[in-house]
Amino acid sequence: MAFWSFVVLVSLLVGYLGYQLYTPMPEGAEQPWQQNKILAFSTLTGLASLAAEKVGLDRLNTSRAIQHWLGDIRGSAVVDGITVRLYLRRRAFARQLKDRVLTTVGSCEPCIPFRRERSSNELSPGKKKSSVEPSHREEQLFVGGAKRLFGTPPHGEDNSLTQYDDLVFDGVKVRVFKPVDGATKSDQPALVFFHGGGFVFFHPNQYNLLTSTIASVAKLVVVSVDYRLAPEHPYPAGQEDCVTATKYMLRNAGKFGVDPNRIAVAGDSAGGNLAMSVALKLSKDRRENLPKIKAQVLIYPFVQGLTLCLPSFHIYGGTGSPSILKTFHTAAGFSLYSKGNIDLMGYFFNNKHISNDFKANALQMSYVDQKLLPAKYRREIECNADGNETVFEEIKHFILDPYFTPLMAADSDLKPLPKTYVLTAEYDTLRDEGFMLAQRLKNNGVDVVHIHWEHNFHGFLSFSGSLENGKQALHDVAEYLLRSV
Ligand SMILES: *[C@@H]1O[C@H](CO)[C@@H](O)[C@H](O)[C@H]1NC(C)=O
Ligand SMILES: *[C@@H]1O[C@H](CO)[C@@H](O)[C@H](O)[C@H]1NC(C)=O
Repeated sequence: MAFWSFVVLVSLLVGYLGYQLYTPMPEGAEQPWQQNKILAFSTLTGLASLAAEKVGLDRLNTSRAIQHWLGDIRGSAVVDGITVRLYLRRRAFARQLKDRVLTTVGSCEPCIPFRRERSSNELSPGKKKSSVEPSHREEQLFVGGAKRLFGTPPHGEDNSLTQYDDLVFDGVKVRVFKPVDGATKSDQPALVFFHGGGFVFFHPNQYNLLTSTIASVAKLVVVSVDYRLAPEHPYPAGQEDCVTATKYMLRNAGKFGVDPNRIAVAGDSAGGNLAMSVALKLSKDRRENLPKIKAQVLIYPFVQGLTLCLPSFHIYGGTGSPSILKTFHTAAGFSLYSKGNIDLMGYFFNNKHISNDFKANALQMSYVDQKLLPAKYRREIECNADGNETVFEEIKHFILDPYFTPLMAADSDLKPLPKTYVLTAEYDTLRDEGFMLAQRLKNNGVDVVHIHWEHNFHGFLSFSGSLENGKQALHDVAEYLLRSV
């Protein structure tokens, strides 16, 4: 009896997981099984963090921990080498374990001498350097190991695993990638890059593959900014970090062999929001007379919070859709980024965050009008939930602020923006706002290249190690930068 109960339970569990983890892909999807695997990982992360919450762990931090761990695996897809992959992960794990043991031991009373010794080491100038070195050394070993195993640099390009330095620009942590042959030049172009992750997740680590590929293909210096994340640091903390790091680069370009007139900004998803926010800010605030940003690259950017009642949210926002980014993720992201908590998620999700009067009369509603979409994407959707006035009063200074959501910029503020590359993906809740943004920029005379990738999902450039289209799209971006900056 017990045996059969066990069999039934296991079958139910397998069936449930299969149901949760399998996404029927639309016809024509590129590498449908690869996309499905990535979507399944994302769902599994969500389920695991829900389970973690049940046993009293922090849901968001569990999710972050899993993503960091997956980021390591993904990085290793570059080299397709199991040895390198395990080696990297084991080293990272050993370092975490050591830190964990040291902090645990260091906080117990009988161990005070030990703790004191450790902190005095950290403070002494001679040792200070070594606090930055491990990750760098690890990367050098990684490059060395990959070269030994494969003979040529992985990923097919010269210098593709470009070296990097972890630095601090006016208090903001950044990772600077330099093309190896650029060491002696003084007029190189540069890109300041902001990673995605809904303002809540990720670190330049998870973007090493993307940023080093761009550095090597586009032959420019890449500054990958480790801006502060919500909800610990709600808006404008992260956005200010991005502005600070970009200004630092504009002022100190010479130190990196960079021509300050050849600096572009870029980002994906929330990072696309930040890139455009920085470009708007620096084009509007000319007090310091810094050189102008040369170009902006906005990869499936997150640009408005006025309405989640758009065809792309409608088609791709629910569970079981081929978009990795569901409507509830966006709603949660806005609540965490604006208020630093999840309290307003339900209002965003149900489109109750905007007052009825505003919906009927405000100019900004024309910025998210379906007339800006290609005719084939327009459709009638029922979203007539009444707005909550109290909530609207609370969030309107965020949601209408162009530095919070750049699609809210007035036409006159769009006009002076630099040339722009907008990339959108079809299986993406943010598809429509990307189209709207590209259209509004074109209407205002900005030099826009808009590339739409059908059959691919939000985030696919991050999987250039396993998705052919991800690799192609990333190379296209790099080639645009090579031509335009
Ligand atoms: C989650 O992690 C962040 C950053 O490490 C930390 O500041 C925060 O206290 C953590 N939250 C919880 C509830 O553990
Ligand atoms: C509007 O939102 C506030 C704050 O969450 C809530 O207290 C209030 O009951 C809501 N009003 C309506 C009419 O739903």
